[in-house]
Amino acid sequence: MDISKIFDNNKVWISTKLKNDTNYFKNLGKGQQPEILYIGCSDSRVTAEELMGVNPGEVFVHRNIANMVPNIDLNVMSVINYAVTHLKVKHVVICGHYSCGGVKAAMQSSDMGILNPWLRNIRDVYRLHHTELDLIEDESKKYDRLVELNVQEQCVNVLKTAAVQKAMLEKRITVHGWVWDIHTGKLVDLMIDFDKILKDIREIYRLSNN
Ligand code: CO
Repeated sequence: MDISKIFDNNKVWISTKLKNDTNYFKNLGKGQQPEILYIGCSDSRVTAEELMGVNPGEVFVHRNIANMVPNIDLNVMSVINYAVTHLKVKHVVICGHYSCGGVKAAMQSSDMGILNPWLRNIRDVYRLHHTELDLIEDESKKYDRLVELNVQEQCVNVLKTAAVQKAMLEKRITVHGWVWDIHTGKLVDLMIDFDKILKDIREIYRLSNN
């Protein structure tokens, strides 16, 4: 791809937006009030806004390899805190996807250098659920299931933060675990009951007295 083409695309995009609304950029410049925080994978095939059919200003987005929420990653922790405490989003979404290269790498035995500590978080998900995963003989089904379990565990990591615990107890936020099926384009809600999970994990991860 010729990188200069990007600037031509940008000019076309500006004129399309202005054709529909002459104040489009003026309004965008006024500020943001997104209702959704989306944490997804950096994979080039998995767009955030496009697959959800939303516009600029509607979703606060964070992407990294395999949509992870490691508790010592200052980047994702800052994004969650800012979105929940300051932007006051109503929904936090963790969106994984089938055929995730990060999850695949974590299923294989190889030294990935600087990526090892990042992938170890996914290997930890495998270890947590190895009884279920080891029963799945079909490798691609096991891979798909690890993608789903990784989404679930990253949602649990979201619930371990003080800002989200507070917002959930005040009933002003909902956490969602989704998987995007790269083979069909379909977004799937894993329908995880996070109120129940929050109750369970607060036995150990309780960060406030209420
Ligand atoms: Co991925």
